[in-house]
Amino acid sequence: MQAMLNTAIQAARRAGDIAIRSLSRLDQLEIKAKARNEYVTQVDQAAEQAIIESIHKRYPDHAILAEESGRQGSSEFVWIIDPLDGTTNFLHGFPTFSVSIALRKRDVLEVGVVYDPCRQELYTTMRGRGAQLDGKRIRVSERRELEGTLIGTGFPYRSNTRWMKTYLGMLGSVMENTAGVRRPGSAALDLCYLAAGRLDGFFEFGLEIWDVAAGTLMIQEAGGVISNLTGSGSHMDSGNVLAGNLKIHDALRELFTPHLNADTGPA
Ligand code: IPD
Ligand code: CA
Ligand code: CA
Repeated sequence: MQAMLNTAIQAARRAGDIAIRSLSRLDQLEIKAKARNEYVTQVDQAAEQAIIESIHKRYPDHAILAEESGRQGSSEFVWIIDPLDGTTNFLHGFPTFSVSIALRKRDVLEVGVVYDPCRQELYTTMRGRGAQLDGKRIRVSERRELEGTLIGTGFPYRSNTRWMKTYLGMLGSVMENTAGVRRPGSAALDLCYLAAGRLDGFFEFGLEIWDVAAGTLMIQEAGGVISNLTGSGSHMDSGNVLAGNLKIHDALRELFTPHLNADTGPA
């Protein structure tokens, strides 16, 4: 797996460099709306192609599941790619976005890489080998109660705005019980901040598999817990994410329970 991790690192750096080079000419980018308030640029596409090319050069038979170009090939090895996580930030020159690459073998996450090209921070993980920031071991925070915690989140959008009321109720409870809430705008990076102990907890509705695949392994290898909102099912299926160290994960789940109606709320 080390060779595959090296390939992912090289690919992520290449994609990050493409994004950074484009930052100085944002006004010349062609921006297409994928949906209302959801955009894609040539940068997302060029970064994705660079990643796929790097992977296929070493592993031509491996399958790809990438945000912009979808599924390609069939193999027990699947590379799950978000070439630019935080496109809205990127388009505004707001310096928080990342490249996320994970490798899944059959149904098991084996490798994860998230690269923040603005800070040049590289998060890496392999199953059973811990998680690292720039080569140094990272761990989730050790806080045991919500008081004093810093919680990350993402706001619902697209079809998930149907949960707005539920979400705002949950957000209100978090604001009342913690030291603060942040919405940085790159879910893949948020999960790495949690793995590194920079955030104590995280929740968001409606994420996609490429937003969370690498960050999931990062959190698990850093000693944390990541699940769906009710704590009992896979967030990789539902896209609804709750994460923290075990104590904070459970405390948030308890805080959210009154807001989540099993029949009508997100799981
Ligand atoms: C988005 C970011 C954001 C999250 C959105 C994602 P994109 O990814 O991860 O933090 O709140 O749900 O779609 O579209 O910039 O790759
Ligand atoms: Ca994304
Ligand atoms: Ca993206």
